[in-house]
Amino acid sequence: MAWALTPLTEEQREIQRTAREFALAEIAPHSADWDRDAYFEPSLVGKLGALGFLGMMIPEQYDGLGLDTLTYLVALEEIAILDASVAVMLSVHNSLPTQMILRWGSEKQKECFLKPMARGERLGAFALSEPEAGSDAASLRTQAVRDGDHWVLNGTKAWVSSGTKSDIIIAMARTDTPDDRRGARGISAFVITPDLPGFHVGKKEDKMGLRASPTVQLHFSDMRVPADRLLGQIGSGFIYAMQSLDNGRLGIAAQAIGIAEAALRHSAAYAAERKQFGKPIKEFQAIQFKLADIAMRVSASRALLHMSATAKDRGEHMTQFSAMAKLQASETAMWATTQAIQIFGGYGYVKEYPVERLFRDAKVTEIYEGTSEIQRIVIARELYSR
Ligand code: CAA
Repeated sequence: MAWALTPLTEEQREIQRTAREFALAEIAPHSADWDRDAYFEPSLVGKLGALGFLGMMIPEQYDGLGLDTLTYLVALEEIAILDASVAVMLSVHNSLPTQMILRWGSEKQKECFLKPMARGERLGAFALSEPEAGSDAASLRTQAVRDGDHWVLNGTKAWVSSGTKSDIIIAMARTDTPDDRRGARGISAFVITPDLPGFHVGKKEDKMGLRASPTVQLHFSDMRVPADRLLGQIGSGFIYAMQSLDNGRLGIAAQAIGIAEAALRHSAAYAAERKQFGKPIKEFQAIQFKLADIAMRVSASRALLHMSATAKDRGEHMTQFSAMAKLQASETAMWATTQAIQIFGGYGYVKEYPVERLFRDAKVTEIYEGTSEIQRIVIARELYSR
């Protein structure tokens, strides 16, 4: 079991156990095949929904479990230890679209969209980035124009996780006009469903890692969106997206810690078995030092993440902590999986052993939901805003 410096309650341990047992039974036996085939197993959504894992932080009045952030992250790490692709699906759904509807949605939107999402009947996605708007998210170009009781949307969204399978997508689009551009304040958020006329799923990316999580482009061509699908206030969509990414980055940190924890476990087990020069390689200090450093960095990442989660639940401003937690955890995952391959030697470089996939899965945690460079910018800006 992963070391937790934060004391967990009996309920948190129970949910952690449930996540672990589910992942061992339903995910781990298939992970290598799903990775090889870039296959997303659709039945996972219903099964995770039945456990309540798609409504973990949604209050019971909206059919969720009403759990705190730390409990959610502990469960997410357990899933990520065995399959980071399934973990990102859970992270995006729980941290971004559901939280956005909960926080800024109308009662009608909560009834129609949030409740089925919490029950695991409908999967959520988040569409902010575009082919030419990545780190500079406020430069997005998808345009929404009001036409009677509809908005008409045109544009392309990129890097949408779970995009082929999602039923409810929160998409950010410009609602300012070409002769009155308002920058970040000219962007609004919309609740999009695939049944809208003009909605098309585009190219599915052929990725290095997280291959069992479908990442796609979405095309909106004169897509007519009923006016009551606007989320919250007009012109506030970018702010909502940024505030939600403060939550989302905690989920990605938990995913990255799961990857690093898996690298540690596999490396420690292999080092105890593998013999060279007449003894198990764990007897050599060169290997001991690597294992010690991985263990220390994983524990430090987990401590920062758990501290950030409890700060969030106390209602504290946590933009900088969320950026730090994601930055520390994702760089730990990349570093730990690199060390793991070194410990495995040639066997680490082949697909027969699990650390090769961990290494490929780790990389994107330094890129999505804000690159490591963006996290450093966010942390540095916060230093001067105190
Ligand atoms: N909370 C609340 N408000 C925030 C905020 C936050 N965390 N961050 C910014 N804002 C507000 C600012 O206060 C400002 O508001 P005012 O208009 O009132 O002044 C407004 O938003 C604009 O902010 P900035 O001037 O700071 O905007 P910027 O253009 O300089 O961008 C950035 C800031 C931090 C670089 C931002 O663009 C960013 O985070 N970029 C990375 C984007 C990202 O993480 N994308 C991930 C997409 S999702 C994904 O990865 C796929 C997936 O499905 C997993």
